[in-house]
Amino acid sequence: MANMKQIARMARVSLGTVSNVLNGTARVREPLRLRVEEAVQAVGYQPSALARGLRRDKTTIIGMVIPDVTNPFFPAVVRGAEDVAFANGYRLVLCNTDNDHVKELAHLNELRTFLPSGLIVIPSDFSDLTKQAESYHKSGAAVVCVDRLPKRWQGDSVTVANESGAHAVTRHLIHLGHERIAIITGPLHLTNSEQRLRGFRRAMAEAGFAVAPEYVKEATFDVSGGRAKALLLLRMLPRPTAIFAANDMIAMGVIEAMHDLGLKCPEDLSLAGFDDLEFAALLNPSLTSVFQPGYQLGATAARILLARVNGDDDPAKHIVLQTELRVRASVAPPQEVQSALRSRDSVASQPSTNTRGKRLGRRQL
Ligand code: RIB
Repeated sequence: MANMKQIARMARVSLGTVSNVLNGTARVREPLRLRVEEAVQAVGYQPSALARGLRRDKTTIIGMVIPDVTNPFFPAVVRGAEDVAFANGYRLVLCNTDNDHVKELAHLNELRTFLPSGLIVIPSDFSDLTKQAESYHKSGAAVVCVDRLPKRWQGDSVTVANESGAHAVTRHLIHLGHERIAIITGPLHLTNSEQRLRGFRRAMAEAGFAVAPEYVKEATFDVSGGRAKALLLLRMLPRPTAIFAANDMIAMGVIEAMHDLGLKCPEDLSLAGFDDLEFAALLNPSLTSVFQPGYQLGATAARILLARVNGDDDPAKHIVLQTELRVRASVAPPQEVQSALRSRDSVASQPSTNTRGKRLGRRQL
């Protein structure tokens, strides 16, 4: 493999001059610079990013840690971060923790050996990121936390308005006439799960509805967790008339449970999710869900991290991106409201007369 000595010999300059041209560490007279560049082309020299990093004690690598590579929400976050990193000459090293804090710790320790410029981390369950981030900061690497925050986190973060998103979807179900609304949350030690439950409770309280304790189920943020808790809810008497699933993967689990029990959506149960993943609009019926901007989460985190790498020493930033309720066919008024509407319409359509023998129109009823 071509090296700097061969270049120096071919360009008839010193090793130091070659290094200055390759690393831009000092000005080099034009004729010498041209001879070095011609020699680099001639020998096909590929500078070693890791070797350069060792010299600078920092590489152009950004470590990115996500909790569940099988959840389609996270690739959107990674894509946003990668687009910003690549545009600025940085490369992402992606690590998946399967929501396991032990695996997360192994990744955080191993990433240190890459001398990364920084980390973007979506912490796992029971993450120890706060402590790990302190040692990264000491080595001059920036750390930005995304989506959910570990205990005592004081650093940069980018999350979404989970509480208001959950409040909006619950309020929509209430406006449809639902009172017996259940929620299947993610793990409640995660801040995003706890915030979505809080938004659900606030909407129910504002409507004057008590939340039956058995209507609050904690699950894992995946299909199997959603299905297991939905089977419990759908076998209750009285059954809830609507379920708010704290992410779309849980909502898929509810759909599986409904198929198992021969229940139809939204006739027997209205269903809403969170994330608004690409498949939500393609389901039949299409899934009502709260959209959260995964791509922007990742892109914003990468921009904050690169600003830190370039010397931004402002106080920690806590960016909260907005969510958006997207209403689709998986929600409708509950059966009892629908039958009341049908009986009112049927009464309204019968020929009726008042004492003066005149037909009563719909609006008089
Ligand atoms: O970890 C699972 C969930 O956390 C995702 O579906 C998304 O809602 C994120 O906030």
